[in-house]
Amino acid sequence: MTDTTTTPTATPTATPTVALLGTGIMGTGMARNTAAAGLPLTVWNRTRAKAEPLADVAAVADTPADAVRGADVVVVMLMDADAVLDVLEQASPGLEDGAVVVQTSTIGPEGTRRVAAWAAERGVALLDAPVLGTKGPAEQGKLVVLAAGPATAREKARPVLEAVGARTVEQGEVGEGSALKLACNNLVATLVEGIAESLVLARALGVDPHLVLEAVRGGAMDAPYVQLKGTAMLDDALDDAAFPLAGAAKDTRLIVEAATAAGVRLEVAEAVQRRFAAAVEAGQGGADLAATYRAPR
Ligand SMILES: NC(=O)c1ccc[n+]([C@@H]2O[C@H](COP(=O)([O-])OP(=O)(O)OC[C@H]3O[C@@H](n4cnc5c(N)ncnc54)[C@H](OP(=O)(O)O)[C@@H]3O)[C@@H](O)[C@H]2O)c1
Repeated sequence: MTDTTTTPTATPTATPTVALLGTGIMGTGMARNTAAAGLPLTVWNRTRAKAEPLADVAAVADTPADAVRGADVVVVMLMDADAVLDVLEQASPGLEDGAVVVQTSTIGPEGTRRVAAWAAERGVALLDAPVLGTKGPAEQGKLVVLAAGPATAREKARPVLEAVGARTVEQGEVGEGSALKLACNNLVATLVEGIAESLVLARALGVDPHLVLEAVRGGAMDAPYVQLKGTAMLDDALDDAAFPLAGAAKDTRLIVEAATAAGVRLEVAEAVQRRFAAAVEAGQGGADLAATYRAPR
């Protein structure tokens, strides 16, 4: 548990009871940190075997409705908007009056509009709260939460956001969190593809690609991600995914769709989208997004 960047009010928040739907790579770490913060927790996952390792810190529910019964805050961490809507619909019979749904999956502004319509129809308070950071930050409680939605919902969810995140970037209306998330993930995707192409180019020109990482090390062009992902590419240490390529491919699709809907053309993002889609097609979807490096080109 760590600081929040800004806090909407100074009023102390009561300890909420929490349900977390989706214990994949991200949800598992978030669940552990929620429980470690002393918040009573129930988890649910479609593949129950992935939720059971959390039984030492949380109740494991059989259904989404069972998971959310009695919960003040319902955290959703699933793959895409269709999964989120499907699972929320399944959870619906158990949702308590006044419960806040904290939607943390990456689903883009359009997916968030669909979830907001669902929430409005049922009178459920919604926080649009996607997260920055991969498996490591999720396990360490060091995500950056991009929280948009009503102040009352943010206040109720605050103990959970503080448990899973190092910082919360407070925004305004539902949809703004998901928009900011896509802008940030465009940087992630284009950076990773840029690293991969620089290493491929060095090798193609007869230069040891390790020298690319050595040459930029510590300079203005360097970034922790350049060394981390560049080294993983060169060591072919790509199978233990921090951020699976299939998820990154989904995000590049959301980025290009959102840009097109907003009337701008992102030519680099479009190229990265094609590249990631081809890498998934080549069987790299379950590997880390840095596996774009080893897919044929
Ligand atoms: N990994 C990252 O670095 C990262 C960082 C920030 C945000 N995100 C976003 O966080 C979300 C989760 O990513 P992850 O990396 O944790 O992926 P993951 O490990 O593949 O987990 C995906 C989760 O979604 C569930 N799911 C998928 N389709 C479903 C459906 N139709 N119905 C019910 N459940 C379904 C999976 O259930 P099963 O276990 O049954 O398959 C699993 O719990 C994605 O939106 C991703 O873009 C990921």
